Amino acid sequence: MSVDIYEAMSTLRAVRRLRQEPLPEDVLGRILQAAAWAPSGGNVQPWRVVVVRDAEKRRRLGDLYRPQWVKYRVGAVEGAARLEGDARAKQQRMLEAADQLGERMGEAPVILVFCFNPSRMAITDIDLGRPTVVGGGSVYPAVQNVMLACRAEGVGCTLTTLLCYEERAVKSLLDIPEDWYTCGFIPIGYPQLGGHGPISRRPVEKLAYADTWGAPF
Ligand SMILES: Cc1cc2nc3c(=O)[nH]c(=O)nc-3n(C[C@H](O)[C@H](O)[C@H](O)COP(=O)(O)O)c2cc1C
Repeated sequence: MSVDIYEAMSTLRAVRRLRQEPLPEDVLGRILQAAAWAPSGGNVQPWRVVVVRDAEKRRRLGDLYRPQWVKYRVGAVEGAARLEGDARAKQQRMLEAADQLGERMGEAPVILVFCFNPSRMAITDIDLGRPTVVGGGSVYPAVQNVMLACRAEGVGCTLTTLLCYEERAVKSLLDIPEDWYTCGFIPIGYPQLGGHGPISRRPVEKLAYADTWGAPF
């Protein structure tokens, strides 16, 4: 179960085809412990996670996700059509897997619903007149820890966010209090196929600069 951290990060791809088999309690416990280890602003940990295993609630989440995926996929299909060769084939494979998740998210044995409470966060970019992201920095490290732990456990996972469009319905389904909001939905389960594996990302040279924006690192 132990996996080198660099190996884990470089093979943590989205695994959308999941078996329905339940996850053992100890595996789930370690995955949630990884979330709890994540840093947050002021160490406040302004996030909670609802571990949805109840079949009816998962089914409802899946039913809410499906139309959102169908809407989103229109743009994704158009984007794939603009690509060529390998990139296009890769995107099409991703779309097929995402279609399956869109159809069957509710069949994942566990759906982790990450919630946050903005009143407990110091959101230092809130007054800048642009979209704010700092608050997410107190939640998504926990999300990433969950996914790395899934990788270590051989459990498939994908961070999804489309259900934020259905936040009101999700809050009502899971009895989430008024002042807590949703920001991540991670269906997890053992993979149907190969699971985690190689990923494709921009090279560091395209992402990191030396001292000045645009200067090659
Ligand atoms: C913030 C965020 C939101 C995402 N939302 C969705 C989603 O709603 N549905 C989905 O199928 N994948 C979602 N993904 C997964 C990405 O599509 C995936 O990480 C990306 O395409 C890279 O795929 P790979 O890790 O398999 O290489 C999301 C990922 C992130 C980081």
